[in-house]
Amino acid sequence: MTTTLETTVRHVVEVGQFDRAGVERLFAAADRMRELPRTAVPLSGRLLATLFYEPSTRTRLSFEAAMLRLGGGVISTENAREFSSAIKGESVEDTVRIVEGYADAIVLRHHEQGAAHRAAAVSAVPVLNAGDGPGEHPTQALLDLYTIRHELGRIDGLRVALVGDLRFGRTARSLARLLRLTSGTELVFVSPPAVPMGDDVRAELDAAGVPQRDEPNLAAVLPDVDVVYQTRIQRERFATSEEYEASRGVYVLDRPAMDRLNPGAVVLHPLPRVDEIAPEVDADPRAAYFRQAHNGVYVRMALLTAVLGGDDGHDS
Ligand code: CP
Repeated sequence: MTTTLETTVRHVVEVGQFDRAGVERLFAAADRMRELPRTAVPLSGRLLATLFYEPSTRTRLSFEAAMLRLGGGVISTENAREFSSAIKGESVEDTVRIVEGYADAIVLRHHEQGAAHRAAAVSAVPVLNAGDGPGEHPTQALLDLYTIRHELGRIDGLRVALVGDLRFGRTARSLARLLRLTSGTELVFVSPPAVPMGDDVRAELDAAGVPQRDEPNLAAVLPDVDVVYQTRIQRERFATSEEYEASRGVYVLDRPAMDRLNPGAVVLHPLPRVDEIAPEVDADPRAAYFRQAHNGVYVRMALLTAVLGGDDGHDS
């Protein structure tokens, strides 16, 4: 897939595929999806397969809601690791070669980094990466940036703090990479010592001229940032529970933290949360994480329409 979503097989496997024009076009399409009449069925007769080898609430259900709201149908395996033929030893490549004969597009979440690339390499139908281990979660990053634009009215000139597990957290990795397409952005990484942002992402940001720094003191960051992107410590990716416990609970957004936060800022989280945002924060107008999750339907409607060639309501 190219950033313009104009090739014949339009995989979405990583944010590196996108350029600024493609992102703007996608966001405009997502805005139109907000207003799409319930009677509109641009993907009528098309079928989406959702293959999830890892648990999910938001990504699977919002992709499926998006497809159904576009008039299409869905087939799904929500625990493919256990209840698909993966348990018998079938490779993801073979599974995709089968499912491409059943559906017009495949949404894949897999526990192995690179699995979406491997699937896309053999698939005759579009593959959309719904998270590949600690690798990428590109559609989440797109909905995150869309939410920033929706909440703050712009995506340029922002100071963004990425907080929490930046090593295993694929959403933070993808969002950091996507922010290279913005101008005047400053990134602050606030992470426990064991889970820093990866050197691969830092090098990409350096190449794009995005200023970035590490800051262990969250309280010092809060008054000066426009976006706080809080993330969960990814328990399932640690080798031992001791290593996990050493990183959890270090950075928590609670009422005192919100009192320090820039009044014009917005708080995002890809969710699910565990204990890194106190429930008392939910009622703060700057807490946008539930609105963020709802935006996922519109962004995924726009993505599905783009990769499946449906009418997105744009007058051309
Ligand atoms: N944000 C996200 O990927 O959530 P799920 O794991 O529930 O899909």
